[in-house]
Amino acid sequence: MKSNQERIEKHIKALSQYTATPNEGTTRLTYSEEDLQARDYIKSQMKAYGLKVREDGLGNIFGKLEGEKKGAPSVIVGSHFDSVPHGGDYDGPAGVIAGIEIAALFQENQIKPAYPLEIIAIIEEEGSRFGGGLMGSRGIAGYLQKEDLEQLKDKDGISVPEAMKQIGLDPSLEVKRDPETIKAFLEMHIEQGPILEEEQISVGVVESIVGLTQLEVTISGKAGHAGTTPMDRRSDALVAAANIIGKLPQIAIEEGEGTVTTVGRHQVFPNGANVIPDKVVFSVDIRSSKETHIKNVVQKVKDVIRTYESEGIQATVEQSLYMQPKELNQDIRSQLKTSAEQLGISYTNMHSGAGHDAMVLSDITDVGLIFVPSKDGLSHCPEEWTAIHELAAGIDVLYETALKLTRKS
Ligand code: GLV
Ligand code: MN
Ligand code: MN
Repeated sequence: MKSNQERIEKHIKALSQYTATPNEGTTRLTYSEEDLQARDYIKSQMKAYGLKVREDGLGNIFGKLEGEKKGAPSVIVGSHFDSVPHGGDYDGPAGVIAGIEIAALFQENQIKPAYPLEIIAIIEEEGSRFGGGLMGSRGIAGYLQKEDLEQLKDKDGISVPEAMKQIGLDPSLEVKRDPETIKAFLEMHIEQGPILEEEQISVGVVESIVGLTQLEVTISGKAGHAGTTPMDRRSDALVAAANIIGKLPQIAIEEGEGTVTTVGRHQVFPNGANVIPDKVVFSVDIRSSKETHIKNVVQKVKDVIRTYESEGIQATVEQSLYMQPKELNQDIRSQLKTSAEQLGISYTNMHSGAGHDAMVLSDITDVGLIFVPSKDGLSHCPEEWTAIHELAAGIDVLYETALKLTRKS
């Protein structure tokens, strides 16, 4: 092993402390107190390994080791450091720690790269605070304008710039990154599925990433007294929403080829046991490896919603995220495999059913994504776990590849 397992374990333990739900998994929402604590830790580690640290206008963290070629584009390594509510310690942080460990190895081995090495820790990949997801990487790719961010609010009505200021970040800084300044992006992530563990393979080299979209559906009805309003005089937003949601699994099943739909978040207003709900807001996450399936399902979901509209029930549908399925760069994929072969680390080709910052950044640069095993295939839950030696194997593959990419002309 080239990477240092003690160091990796120290970083995993350190970051796992920064949770709003101790003993009930990692809950690290973007721009929260726990974000600030994790942010300070990540920045301190980047500095300790000789990187020059900066944050952009979304609070994405970059640590840079200059290269010998003047003005050359960077090889960026990293992942996100936010979490889902009650998630695990590895989804995101494993890839940030991979970057930090690679910086440590560059320093330890006194490597002076030709191209700069940049380590990145990205915000709000999960969308747990502001919805949609992939917000940090979408900003870097230039898909989010300042006005969009002012409009984007959390469930308490706090906008992105307001939330940033609350933890001392500067939303006036530039976010969009000139693609000319990036040579490649490398990400390591836990698999979040069972294949690598079951097949006892150390590394998955990702060939393609699922396409995904998220809809935000608002159903409006009329509030009233739960005891005195006769059943035939109600416009109950929750009953309409429940009927709609009940139809969604079948739409995905009929579409086939692994198409999936999930309603993972909903809010009921006014949320009183003895009040007829007048508003329900819920998310619909739709994924498929084929874009036509995603488009078909979006249309079918809208059609179902329409059938529940009436004089008393209105519905609106907003698309908060749309990402096409992506195929990742062939050349980087083969470099990752060559690195694994040279290190004697087993690997296989994989498809990703989860979304990743890599899929957004593949629009602006050459991207490589590898997976390491997830115990029992579990993720987005407190039980999420990957052995330190498995993280180390993945980091070795990424380090070897980063060495070549920062060296090569
Ligand atoms: C992120 O984990 C996603 O796939 O939504
Ligand atoms: Mn995730
Ligand atoms: Mn992730």
